[in-house]
Amino acid sequence: MIFYFSGVGNSAWVARHLAERLQDNVLSVAEEINKGINYVAKPGEKVGFVFPVYGWEPPKIVLDFVGKMQMNCPDYLYFVCTCGDDVGKTTKVFESAIRAKGWKCNAGFSVTMPDTYVCLPGFDVDDKATLQLKMENATARVEYIAGELLKGVQMAKFDCYEGPLPYTKTYVLGGLFRAFLMSPKPFKATDKCTACGLCAKKCPVHNIKVEDKPQWGNNCTMCLACYHACPHHAIEYGKRTKNKGQYSI
Ligand SMILES: Cc1cc2nc3c(=O)[nH]c(=O)nc-3n(C[C@H](O)[C@H](O)[C@H](O)COP(=O)(O)O)c2cc1C
Repeated sequence: MIFYFSGVGNSAWVARHLAERLQDNVLSVAEEINKGINYVAKPGEKVGFVFPVYGWEPPKIVLDFVGKMQMNCPDYLYFVCTCGDDVGKTTKVFESAIRAKGWKCNAGFSVTMPDTYVCLPGFDVDDKATLQLKMENATARVEYIAGELLKGVQMAKFDCYEGPLPYTKTYVLGGLFRAFLMSPKPFKATDKCTACGLCAKKCPVHNIKVEDKPQWGNNCTMCLACYHACPHHAIEYGKRTKNKGQYSI
C-alpha cells in the first residue's frame, strides 16, 4: 500500500507511477485521516509514504497521520518525498515519527519536481525550460526508485537531496516558516473570482467553502492547491503572490 498526500499533484503523480510499477494501491492521507486509520500490513508487504516537503519537513498532516495510524510493524517501509529544490533534514523528522511508532524505515528517496511555493519574495513557479527538465528527470528518477523498491533495497543512508545547511533549514528556518508563514488568513479571492468552486473541489482537506466568494477555514495545509487550480488566477496570498505564476501537472 502507498499512503500519499499531495497538494498540487506532484506527489500524487509519483504515488500513481510507483503504484503502477509496483502493482500496488494508493490511499489518500487527506481522505483517510479522519476515518480512524487501521491498516494490517501483510507478510512481505512494502508500505510506502509519499508526500511533498513543506519548510524542509514532511507536512503536518502526514506526521499527524503517522501518529494516529494503527498498523502492525510492516516488513518493509519506505518513503518518497517530492521537493522543488532540497529537503533539508526531512528524512530525520520522518524517520523519528516512524521510529516513535516502533516501525523502521528501510528506504527513503527524494524527487525534485516543479516548485509550487510562491508565497515569499523571490519564490515563483519554474520557467518552462526548468519545468520540462525537472519533469524529464523526475520521470527517470521514479523509474529508478521503483526498481530499487522492487529489489527491496535496505539503506543505511537515505537517497535524498538535503541541499546546503540542512540542519539550519529544517530546525531554524523551518521553525520560523511554520510559525509565521502557514496561516490561511492572507488568502483572498480578487474581483476576478467567479465563485466557480474549483478551489473548494481541489482543496485536499475540504477547507474552502464558496458562497459569493471562497472562504478559508482553519484546517489549511498551505498546499496551495487552491491558488494554482484557480482558472481565473483570482486567488492571492496577501500581496506576496502578486504577479506570480501558476502550475499544474
Ligand atoms: C508550503 C510549501 C512549502 C514548501 N517547502 C519546500 C521546501 O522546504 N523545499 C523544497 O525544495 N520545496 C518546497 N516546496 C515545494 C514542494 O515541496 C514541491 O513543489 C512539491 O513537489 C509539491 O508537491 P505536491 O504537488 O504534491 O503538493 C514547498 C511548497 C509549499 C506549498
